[in-house]
Amino acid sequence: PRRVGILISGRGSNMRALVENAISYEVALVVSNKPRAPGLEWARAHGLPTWSQDSKGAEKEAYDRVVSAVLDEQSVGTIALAGFMRILSPWFVEEWRGRIVNIHPSLLPKYRGLDTHARAIDAGDKIAGCSVHIVTDELDAGEVLGQTEVPIEPGETPASLEQRVLLAEHALYPRLLNEFVCR
Ligand code: GAR
Repeated sequence: PRRVGILISGRGSNMRALVENAISYEVALVVSNKPRAPGLEWARAHGLPTWSQDSKGAEKEAYDRVVSAVLDEQSVGTIALAGFMRILSPWFVEEWRGRIVNIHPSLLPKYRGLDTHARAIDAGDKIAGCSVHIVTDELDAGEVLGQTEVPIEPGETPASLEQRVLLAEHALYPRLLNEFVCR
């Protein structure tokens, strides 16, 4: 379980936090479904094995079977989703059941899905935050492993809130992944 595969789609700041704070796991592979993801560049520059193939237009389960085989080839035991903006097929979730974790920018079960910060501000919430959870076939609904609360300030915008929640994500995710691979 200690060989981790990280799946990204973009910037990869959480991937970077996971790489830089790996204690009880090692990052075996970084996968992106977007070949131009900036996070891939960083991973390559840091000597990490990477794999990418554009998922656009691909048949969902067929694509996921390829990803699964690539992860198996690297003897990955645990998958960490880090800004992976693609819903995994039921086949993939079953194949890796209990071994996929995700970081989500809200205090689950509030605000599953997208635009979490705008929705929290619009609702008049006083507290936002982030959650790390186990991935199941229901979107953003698996067991929550841990959360960090971030206060919503007067005059908050989705962009300003995103910045502060992101810092909380970078601290929370490595801490919980280090624990998770040991359980
Ligand atoms: C993070 O805020 C992460 O929580 C969120 O996307 C961002 C990725 O940033 N994930 C989701 O919304 C998952 N549905 P990063 O690429 O810099 O880690």
